[in-house]
Amino acid sequence: MKRDRFGRFGALVAMAGSAVGLGNLWRFPYLVGENGGAAFIIVYILLSFVLCLPIFISEFVIGRRSQKNAFAAFRDLSGGSRWKWVGLFTIIVPLIVLSYYSVIGGWSVEYLFKSLTFSFTGESRSTFSTMFTNFVSSPWTPLLCHTVFLLMTTLIVIVGIKDGIEKFSKVMMPLLFVIVLAIAIYAVTLPGASAGLNYLFNPDFSKIDGSSIAAALGQAFFSLSLGFGTIMTYASYVDKKENILFQSTATAVSDLMFAMIAGVAIMPAVFAFGLNPQSGPGLVFDTLPYVFGQMPGGSVIAILFFVALLVAALTSSISMLEVAVAYLVEEKKMSRKWACVILFVICWLVGALCSLSFGPLSDIHINGRNLFDFFDNLSSNVLMTLGSLFTVLFVGWRLKKADIYDEFTNGGTLSRNAKLFGVLWFLIRYVCPVVIIAIFVSGLL
Ligand code: PHE
Repeated sequence: MKRDRFGRFGALVAMAGSAVGLGNLWRFPYLVGENGGAAFIIVYILLSFVLCLPIFISEFVIGRRSQKNAFAAFRDLSGGSRWKWVGLFTIIVPLIVLSYYSVIGGWSVEYLFKSLTFSFTGESRSTFSTMFTNFVSSPWTPLLCHTVFLLMTTLIVIVGIKDGIEKFSKVMMPLLFVIVLAIAIYAVTLPGASAGLNYLFNPDFSKIDGSSIAAALGQAFFSLSLGFGTIMTYASYVDKKENILFQSTATAVSDLMFAMIAGVAIMPAVFAFGLNPQSGPGLVFDTLPYVFGQMPGGSVIAILFFVALLVAALTSSISMLEVAVAYLVEEKKMSRKWACVILFVICWLVGALCSLSFGPLSDIHINGRNLFDFFDNLSSNVLMTLGSLFTVLFVGWRLKKADIYDEFTNGGTLSRNAKLFGVLWFLIRYVCPVVIIAIFVSGLL
C-alpha cells in the first residue's frame, strides 16, 4: 500500500506541532518559577539536548528506517521478535494521553467561547475561581467540550497525512507563533511586568535538587512527545532525503522557544496584577481570565490566547491519534475512516470518565488520585519513561550499529551527521538508559 509523505516544511511543522502543546503553554512557565527560574531553564536545556534529543533521534530513526506504524516498526526491524509488544505499548499510551488531553482541550474550547461571548472585565478574582470550579465539576458542559475537541482532532486525522495533518499544521503553527509572540511583547510592556520576568529568569541554584531535575526531565519528555510512538509514526512519513539531525534539532529548538515565549507571555501579566502563579489548569483557566479582565485590550488578548491554546492542543492531539490510526490501517486493514471512528469512541469513553472525575465521579480514587490525575500521573511519570527507555535500548542494543549509521547519515552522504555519530551512539547506548533508569528509580522511591 502506498503511504503518504510529508513535505519538508510539512514534516517540520507537524513535528513541532506535536511537541508544542499544553505542556508549553501552562506547564513549563509554572515549573520554571517553582523550581528556581533560570537555574531550572539551564537544567532543562541541558537535559533536552543531551538526553532527550538522542531519544528523539532514536524514535526518528526507527520510524523512518521502517516506514511503518510503530508496531510493525519494532516487529520488522527486529526480525519479528517480541519487541513488537513494545511497539504495541507505544500505540496504547498515546491513546490514554489523548483521552485526558482532550478533556483539557475541551476546556480551552469552552474558554474560547467564553472569551467571545462574555466580557471578563470588571469581575472579581473569586468570580473566576468559582466559574472554573463550577464548570469542571458540572457533568454536561465539560463533556460536550471534550466531545467537540475530540471530534475536531478526529476530523483532521480522517482527512489524512498530507491534506489533514500537514495542511492544518502548516497554517496553524505560524499563526500560533505570531499570536504567542504578540502576547509576549504586549505583556512585557505592562507596568509591573519585571516581577514576572524576575520570577522566570532569576537563577536560584539552591532550588535545584533531585526532584527539580526529575521535574525537568518529565517536562522535557512530555514536551517533546517522547516515549509515545508519535515521533516514530510521524517520522515514518518523512522522506529518505531529509536530514534527521536537522529535523530533530529544529523541533527541539522550536519547542524550547515556544515554552520560553509562553513564559514571557504569561508570567509578567500575572505579576503585573499582583497575583501568584499557580500550578496546572488553574493558572490558565482561572488566574489568566482575571488578568485579561484587568488589562487594557484584555478582551482581544483573551480571545487570541484561547485560540492559541486550542490550536496548540489540536496540533498535539492529532499526533497522538495518528499513532493508533496508522496501526489499525496498516495492520488490521481498516479504512482510515473506520479506524478514526473506533478510536474516537474509545478515547471519548475514557476521556468522559476523566472529565466526570472532577464532578459526579470525584469519589472514585485510584492510589489516592481521581481518575484524571491517575491517568495523567501514570502516563507522564511511568509509561512515557518506560517508552523512552525501551526505545533507546532497542536502538542502542538491538538494532545494528551500521543500520543506524546508514539511516542517520542518509547512507553516509551527510558528513556532519557522520562526524557526530560517535557521540550520538554513545549517548543512546550508555548515557540515556543509565540516566533514565536512575531518575525513574529515584522517582519511585
Ligand atoms: N508535547 C505535547 C505538549 O507539550 C504533548 C504530547 C505528548 C503530544 C505526547 C504528543 C505525544 O503538550
